Amino acid sequence: MLAVVVLVGAQWGDEGKGKVTDFLAARADIVVRYQGGNNAGHTVVVGEEEFKLHLIPSGILHADKTCVIANGVVIDPAVLVAEIEELQRRGVKMARLLISERAHLILPYHRLQDAAEENRKENGRIGTTGRGIGPAYMDKAARTGIRMVDLLDAGTLCRRLAENVAFKNSLFGRVYGTEGVSLEELHRACLQYAEKLGRYVTDTGVVLHQAISEGKNVLFEGAQGTLLDIDHGTYPFVTSSNPTAGAACVGAGVGPRVINTVMGIAKAYTTRVGGGPFPTELHDGLGEEIRTRGREFGTTTGRPRRCGWFDAVIARYAVRINGLDYLCITKLDVLTGIPVLKICRAYRHQGEEIADFPASLRMLGECEPVYEELPGWQEEISGARRVEDLPENARRYIARLSELAGAPVAMIGVGTRREQTIVCHSVF
Ligand code: IMP
Repeated sequence: MLAVVVLVGAQWGDEGKGKVTDFLAARADIVVRYQGGNNAGHTVVVGEEEFKLHLIPSGILHADKTCVIANGVVIDPAVLVAEIEELQRRGVKMARLLISERAHLILPYHRLQDAAEENRKENGRIGTTGRGIGPAYMDKAARTGIRMVDLLDAGTLCRRLAENVAFKNSLFGRVYGTEGVSLEELHRACLQYAEKLGRYVTDTGVVLHQAISEGKNVLFEGAQGTLLDIDHGTYPFVTSSNPTAGAACVGAGVGPRVINTVMGIAKAYTTRVGGGPFPTELHDGLGEEIRTRGREFGTTTGRPRRCGWFDAVIARYAVRINGLDYLCITKLDVLTGIPVLKICRAYRHQGEEIADFPASLRMLGECEPVYEELPGWQEEISGARRVEDLPENARRYIARLSELAGAPVAMIGVGTRREQTIVCHSVF
């Protein structure tokens, strides 16, 4: 069956999208990143090797897949060049990497501005990844951004860099009271990036259109997660792009009708990095245990992730906002051995139960999770390859998550390796 599939995070990011993308990439012809930048981090384990990817789609680890970094992504050229060179050093071929001409660049002044903004906020810090993502999208919206196509055009690059650096340096000096950047150094670095990246840059919208018309399998790989969406997430504690499914169209230049299937990835529990409310957060030893067992430390920043119970209110919200056809539940093995598992089925606010995710952060902060309890399982499940291999309590847990979220489960992850995946329904 030929298909165009969008994968999105159904929680606050870090749901294990990298592994699922890598798994599904085996059946895809093209894998596409459509938003975010190197704030994302995917850990993919292939055989004995572990790869950490930030910008290049995980499909690159399959030799014959075309990997597209589409227009909606913000690209730090220094990071991309380093990632390409590191992968090449480890024997991964880059022949099929394509970068959109329309993708915007993250430059050093964006990283400085990200840090300066966070410092300025004191109590209201977002806890960004510090990669310059927000300021790069700010410049995109302000129409002062520099795109890949400009990087390759020496005259435009020189002019736009001069204008931007002059403005940013005055911002750093006069508003933030910090050091700026050197125009000459940045210009020199950009010419090198152009030299190294130019061969990959193309009109990726044309390539995707062609592939879809020919009936190829295309996988859109979302970064971050629904609750970090700038429109639908826990604003202002969100990222600066739309990690939700609708953004795949805008971020890659395809129409909504080409998409056949949308799958949301959710952990069997919940995690969050950075600031902002998190109703089912565990502040006790169990939260610590899940963090250790699930290796819940950021791929990008190494920060410990906050851990808590599965929240069906946000899962249901993700099903609605993304139009999820299926859920993929990851890291089920991390819950093995916990005697009683809790699932948040609703929130209680001022004595009343609410089933929908509130927009007001104040209200969200006042919400108490309403839990139901299910018995856990003791059996090792990392060798399970079919649903029938799972202990009954694990199956009941998955069935209840699915029922409360309102979407069928297509895949279940039971370990970090590619093959530690149970497929209940094939999307390709
Ligand atoms: P930014 O995307 O670096 O601006 O960070 C904004 C918020 O999104 C912070 O809370 C980050 O921790 C969070 N964030 C950004 N990217 C990721 C991700 O890939 N996984 C999880 N959280 C992320």
